[in-house]
Amino acid sequence: MKDRFGREIDYLRISVTDRCNLRCLYCMPEDIETVPMKEILTFEEIIDVVKCAVKLGISRIKITGGEPLVRRNVCHLIRMIKDIPGISQVTLTTNGLLLEEMIRELAGAGTDSINISLDTLDRDRYRCITGYDKLEAVQKGLESAIDLAIPVKINAVSVNWDRYFKVPGPEGDTGISKDIMDLIGLCEKKPVDVRFIELMPIGAGKDYPGIPHDLMIPMIQDHFAGMEKDSHHGNGPAVYYRIPGYTGRIGFISAVHGKFCDKCNRLRLTSRGYLKSCLCYDTGYDLKHVLRDGSSGSQREERIIDGLEKSILSKPDSHSFSQEEKITEKLTMSAIGG
Ligand code: 5AD
Ligand code: SF4
Repeated sequence: MKDRFGREIDYLRISVTDRCNLRCLYCMPEDIETVPMKEILTFEEIIDVVKCAVKLGISRIKITGGEPLVRRNVCHLIRMIKDIPGISQVTLTTNGLLLEEMIRELAGAGTDSINISLDTLDRDRYRCITGYDKLEAVQKGLESAIDLAIPVKINAVSVNWDRYFKVPGPEGDTGISKDIMDLIGLCEKKPVDVRFIELMPIGAGKDYPGIPHDLMIPMIQDHFAGMEKDSHHGNGPAVYYRIPGYTGRIGFISAVHGKFCDKCNRLRLTSRGYLKSCLCYDTGYDLKHVLRDGSSGSQREERIIDGLEKSILSKPDSHSFSQEEKITEKLTMSAIGG
């Protein structure tokens, strides 16, 4: 279905839990309250929503969190969604901690691709950013996905950690931090795309020094001779580049400074059952009320479809992340799922 601005909405991000087994500084502050289990949508409710969403032209689903792999039997949910006629792709965004032990089950469930969130390859820094000494587990998870030939992307939030941790000066003469250089190095030999995401001033994200991509991209380009834009862009907002001799690509999701809203194709369902129309605002539709109002059969279906339509039609033309006073979203990213 098209929204008011003629954009085709065919992608739904579903947050299956707001819980997480990490505490990334910019995402999930220590004292955050989690949603009680009874408030979280059941698998049956999620399936009902997806079946109705397909009728409006949604064909691709992202499973996200919190950390989606901490939700019990999440692979079963992935399989059920994959089996819905009209769904072409189910992909996952994870922090990778549980990936190694779950990778076979995820592959068996038909997971089409996996995004792993990883901001640094330095063990100490990883612990400082995420609160846990678990870098190795993530690296093993990454390898296990590559071994099974599941397409993998790395997502790193563009934060100037040197400044945050008060480390003097940029690394060498590159002007780019070691975190960024190491992450780019990952795709030299490995078949993974490494994507940098501009830090959005949402939740705790407001308090960290994000690196604007209009500064970062030219610096990286200056450093890697022959780095060129790749014509193949994929479905999302990332702009990809190739470095000569590298297996994977570098991508930039310039959520704040890059105006890609005119190509927005998505809706988000929070674990509480709220349909969000844009990351930046709290507008949307409370689908959980409909899901739990006791209606059944075609009446239930009509109500769910009505909620989906309303939330598609409430999509704004663009975000306003660069004017903080206009941001109405109060949730942290862990409750939205990115
Ligand atoms: N801005 C950009 N990305 C964020 N994430 C969490 N908080 C923010 C933020 N404020 C990322 C996580 C993960 C994805 C789901 O969202 O690092 O990769
Ligand atoms: Fe968990 Fe991802 Fe948030 Fe980190 S960014 S706390 S891994 S949900």
